[in-house]
Amino acid sequence: MQNVVEVVIIGAGAAGMMCAATAGQKGRSVVLIDHATKLAEKIRISGGGRCNFTNLNTLAGCYQSENPHFVKSALKQYSQFDFIKMVESHGLGYHEKTLGQLFCDQGSQAIIDMLKAEVDLGGAIWRMDTAIISIQKTEAGFEVVTSRETWLCSSLVVACGGLSIPPIGATGLGFEIAKQFDIPLMPLAPALVPLTFQPQDLWADLAGVAIEDTIVKCGHTEFREAILLTHKGVSGPAILQISSYWRSGDALEIDLVPDVDFDAFWAAANRDALITTALAEILPKRLVHAWLAAWGEIKPLKQYSPKERAAIADSFHCWRIIPSGSVGYKKAEVTRGGVDTQALSSKTMESRQVAGLFFVGEVVDVTGWLGGYNFQWAWSSGYVAGLNC
Ligand code: FDA
Repeated sequence: MQNVVEVVIIGAGAAGMMCAATAGQKGRSVVLIDHATKLAEKIRISGGGRCNFTNLNTLAGCYQSENPHFVKSALKQYSQFDFIKMVESHGLGYHEKTLGQLFCDQGSQAIIDMLKAEVDLGGAIWRMDTAIISIQKTEAGFEVVTSRETWLCSSLVVACGGLSIPPIGATGLGFEIAKQFDIPLMPLAPALVPLTFQPQDLWADLAGVAIEDTIVKCGHTEFREAILLTHKGVSGPAILQISSYWRSGDALEIDLVPDVDFDAFWAAANRDALITTALAEILPKRLVHAWLAAWGEIKPLKQYSPKERAAIADSFHCWRIIPSGSVGYKKAEVTRGGVDTQALSSKTMESRQVAGLFFVGEVVDVTGWLGGYNFQWAWSSGYVAGLNC
């Protein structure tokens, strides 16, 4: 059986729901198709169940893309403050945790319910648990064959996200659709992801040790946040952030004690105590012991020469490491790369070469920092496509 709507949206995640709500409330007939049985699992698990739904400091500079200007138009048309207004209009509370990151007081399910209510307000038809069988271009638009029925539409919005966390529904369908229509893709890679170490660099016995304030640098990019040692390498917000910029073979430089002036620190420390006792004031004890053991016998501070102390200080200020890789899509928060922004209008997210075909959210070559930026991109890009599809 063939059904006719104006807009078919594939993917009922963050960007797809925002697009369906916007297009539907504008009066367009919309069907929202998703192969998952449960709605918006990524929103549900986000922010540790509290959904870090946007960031107060959202700016174009917080996104990585081959064209760093691409995000500007969508972010301007639908900003973090627009989304905050929607959250407030549904009576939801929120709080800033750190660095402008806003979390929902009522938890992620409340954000899903809010978006669902907005989609319902626009009258979109829901088709969950529905697989896409094929997509064809027709004279008037597109034919989308699904496991339930066939839809004819004038606009097709691809909102099926990236490759991260396959067990909750991620597939490469969005990238396959781009390829089908000869739309170029930027190379894909896991991003916002823990990094792994070469065996000789592993500190597996230190797994679980967190260092609260570090600067992690890769090339010219650096982030100042916590890191966490793991069984396989290193994680924590500063590492997730830098992972989006890290390329195979690049070295990371980690300052484990950015604010410590070691000349003053050694001068104020008890010279008769073990050096580890002094250092345990500024770094986790387990780390200090393992680190100093690598320098030989652990001695009282006074038995280290100024040269040795300077070398130890340098080692904490500049821990240089070449990761072996990342833990991959099973743990990555997002996928870097995707539909080449050159192929899309930044104002509408419509393909420049295939009229009526739109790409929104993570499937596009736009990767935000950790901290609510990726959802903001989903809301902004979904909104502008919804206005124009
Ligand atoms: P999204 O993944 O949300 O939706 C895609 C939809 O398409 C899914 O419903 C999927 O089932 C469907 N789909 C996929 N393949 C399909 C197919 N073949 N057929 C039909 N449907 C298909 N960001 C942030 O800003 N703040 C945060 O707190 C977090 N936290 C977070 C935690 C974890 C663990 C992860 C993995 C990710 C985050 N993120 C985040 C990132 C954020 O979840 C992500 O950027 C957005 O969900 C992207 O929105 P999209 O709508 O593009 O994809």
